[in-house]
Amino acid sequence: MNSSSSGMWSSRLIFILAAAGSAVGLGNIWRFPYVAGENGGGVFVLAYLLCICVIGLPIMIAEIVLGRAGKNSPIASMTILAKDSGTNPAWQIIGWMGVVAGFMILSFYSVIAGWALAYFFKMVQGVFVSIDALNANRVFEDFIGDPYRLVFWHTVFMAITIFITSRGVDQGLEKAVKVLMPGLFFLLILLLTWAVSSSGHFLEGLSFLFSPKPQDFSGNSVFLAMGQAFFTLSLGMGAIMAYGAYLSKSAGIVGSALTIGGLDTLVALLSGMIIFPIVFANGLEPSAGPGLMFVSLPLAFGNMVAGQIFGAIFFLLVSLAAVTSAISISEPAVAWLAERGKFGRPTSSYIIGLFAWVLGLGSAFSFNLMSDFTLLPERSFFDSMDFLSNNILLPLGGILISVFVGWRLKAEILVDQLPNLPRLFWVLLIFSLRFIAPGAIFIVFAMSILK
Ligand code: PFF
Repeated sequence: MNSSSSGMWSSRLIFILAAAGSAVGLGNIWRFPYVAGENGGGVFVLAYLLCICVIGLPIMIAEIVLGRAGKNSPIASMTILAKDSGTNPAWQIIGWMGVVAGFMILSFYSVIAGWALAYFFKMVQGVFVSIDALNANRVFEDFIGDPYRLVFWHTVFMAITIFITSRGVDQGLEKAVKVLMPGLFFLLILLLTWAVSSSGHFLEGLSFLFSPKPQDFSGNSVFLAMGQAFFTLSLGMGAIMAYGAYLSKSAGIVGSALTIGGLDTLVALLSGMIIFPIVFANGLEPSAGPGLMFVSLPLAFGNMVAGQIFGAIFFLLVSLAAVTSAISISEPAVAWLAERGKFGRPTSSYIIGLFAWVLGLGSAFSFNLMSDFTLLPERSFFDSMDFLSNNILLPLGGILISVFVGWRLKAEILVDQLPNLPRLFWVLLIFSLRFIAPGAIFIVFAMSILK
């Protein structure tokens, strides 16, 4: 069974929307601001932007190339391409690592997306109308302290994701992203206008994000910025590769990658420019951690005209943006299971979703029942899943992908996937994939050890 059993994108635009739907998600709106806030703001943002350009974009091009040339799940595509290139079939490890990372990411992603769903209903109920910082914090603490509610919302989110995944890429997903992406942009612009005009601390927020202070520099924050770049662009685990398999031959890869990367970065920066002015205006801590968005945004909505309606729409859109990302996180594993032929696509989706759901219980409980439990030293179950997948597995996957495409993939395959690429772009791409991207990832890993 190959990609045709999961469907094909009906146009290049739909691929861009779907891949942007994969990239834009909790990583931009929830994770980017809170990790930037924990790591000194400006230095982190600068390192993140550099990682996007120097490491992220070449690897995104490489993943799309591999997917479209391999036309199967990442595991099968890598096996086929390694064989066609006359090299070691062990390169399929890229696909396997992606499946493992995908399970880990999907498990905690669903828990946090469940929070966004729950917040949609809280908004509708008017829980945050005229709320102050203390109470917004209290609502959040009460909520994450309740294991039943977290498991409930985790279950709802996972069920929605599995339902859509089971139907294949061409049904539902296309329609969803077409409405979702413009809606999300509209509300972000609305929130930004509010942050500029009403927070009274817009410039403070801007300067936190965009003026790096040398004393904040550390190897560790650059390392975390690199993990964020991989996570936010959905790279290093085969998600974009899996989507590339459904892309028609006529679509241009480089232009698509630049558009997806640009949209994704824009949403992350907009989110930061919205959240930090609210944080400073209300005396919140930028380093508050995973709750940052769930305390600051309700505060803004609770105190703006028609905030109840806008807030509800916003959390609904964030939940939907999370769905379009979660689908792509599960895609490498689902496509692999489905193409083995034992189960159809629906059953494959249910199996993968069930495993990820069980693993997710650990993350849900790490905010309450298991809050004292550490998996990695000084890291809760949730933190450990997040750290291992985003900061270790995705960059390692990135090294392997860039080295494979840069050094091992048969030249004809690459040329065939990137026809009409101007010479300068070729030189840049090959140089990046051979030396710059793997070298930079390696250096950043080394910097993190030195701290
Ligand atoms: N890029 C998504 C986000 O920013 O929310 C998360 C994600 C999707 C990570 C797909 C990894 C992945 F393969």
